[in-house]
Amino acid sequence: MSTGKKQYGMFQSEPIDTSAAGNSLPGSETACAFKPFSHDYLQDPYQFFDKARKSEPVFFSPEYNYWVVLKYEDIATVYRNPETYSPVNARHPVTPICPAAAKVRDQQNLGIEPSLVDEASDTHKHHRKIFGTAFTPKRVNQMEDRIRAIVDRYIDRFVNDGRAELVSQLLYEVPALAIFLFLGASDEDAVFVKKLGSDRAIVNWGSPTESEQVAMMHGMGEHWQFTKDLVDKAYKTPGDNYLGDMVRIHHDDPTLFSINYLYNVMFLMQFAGHETTTQATANGLRHLLTDREQWELLCEQPELIANAVEEILRIDTSIFGWRRITTCETTLGGVTIPKDARILMMMGSGNHDEDIFPNGSKFDATRKNAKKHLGLGLGAHFCMGAPLARMEMRIILEQLTSRLPQLQLVGDQSWEYLPTLVFRGVQNLEVEWTA
Ligand code: HEM
Repeated sequence: MSTGKKQYGMFQSEPIDTSAAGNSLPGSETACAFKPFSHDYLQDPYQFFDKARKSEPVFFSPEYNYWVVLKYEDIATVYRNPETYSPVNARHPVTPICPAAAKVRDQQNLGIEPSLVDEASDTHKHHRKIFGTAFTPKRVNQMEDRIRAIVDRYIDRFVNDGRAELVSQLLYEVPALAIFLFLGASDEDAVFVKKLGSDRAIVNWGSPTESEQVAMMHGMGEHWQFTKDLVDKAYKTPGDNYLGDMVRIHHDDPTLFSINYLYNVMFLMQFAGHETTTQATANGLRHLLTDREQWELLCEQPELIANAVEEILRIDTSIFGWRRITTCETTLGGVTIPKDARILMMMGSGNHDEDIFPNGSKFDATRKNAKKHLGLGLGAHFCMGAPLARMEMRIILEQLTSRLPQLQLVGDQSWEYLPTLVFRGVQNLEVEWTA
């Protein structure tokens, strides 16, 4: 999908021309009911999904200019056919970047280029092979004890208090520390990048104001420079970590990928590698502590925790929607979709599809096919960090169930969610226990 203009991926300000893609179609009843930034939807999008999956499982929303896809098999079809459903728009800002923010972007000298998640098939295959192969089980497994120690260190800080807010006191920082350890950066840097990550979620996938966009663009300049410095430093002294491995691979054969591409993948991973895990774990804990029997089951049978992690990624995953764009006219779920049409796959809906997951709105840590969920994508772009994410979530649950089995939700709390189209994560989780 070449427009001849520079592609900024997530910092794109010029939307792809979709004028031929059905934008003038009238909205159906389902489309009119689709209000992804409304309070009710953010609190519980599953009510809308359950209804819409039955009435119009593929519908066009003229308001947002997306073809919204709700059934499991249709989403799987989109994922499995990247040539027809290209991922090049996966990171485009949902709300186009305003001219003032674009100006700041242009002054920052950002070397952003499509990388893995939004890369077209031809180059993606090549890059995924190199960057995926280096993401070895050995590298991931050697993180286990270190992540457990980090989780314990955070729990130690509040274990005698009888009360905690788990997102800010545990889940916010731990995944950032884990990914930074994996890549080879310091703890202080992790906290700095974490803050940028949260802002980026709203600005890139939400409905930000112009001044929020401008502020984010300044932050992105800082983050880009930080990433370049991180890679350049590793190039001089490569460590015993994933970034060190990638630098060694590049050093041995610089034709495999450019240094700028390596900057880009590191930039991507610093975001993909923690905000997602923070939010998925928060959602999961909310479910488990609401459905107390399930929590107690995990306390009694910790061997079920690995499957419970899959069930969390099914019932309320943190990337619950993701985007594609059609490269030709096609048919999906019996609906004809034009070329250049923007597709919004709602994995959160597919994950509740009763055809695949009977009693889909019930959390069941023993569910046989929980791992079939779409929470980590599917096919060529399947989440590269999945083994690390799964391990982190498992360790957090193992440590909480073993150290604080009497944990319970503080009553009467209201739940806050960030207003974004594709990310879903409860922002606060007040818990208490007998200290
Ligand atoms: C619970 C946590 C996570 C969730 C829910 C999640 C979800 C996803 C999803 C939905 C995709 C897109 C798949 C597609 O387009 O087919 C993706 C891609 C990706 N994720 Fe994750 N992710 C998580 C954690 C991580 C972690 C810890 C890393 C660590 C580096 C990571 C790195 C990546 C990368 C590099 C890609 C792009 C892969 C490609 O396009 O080839 N993710 N993830």
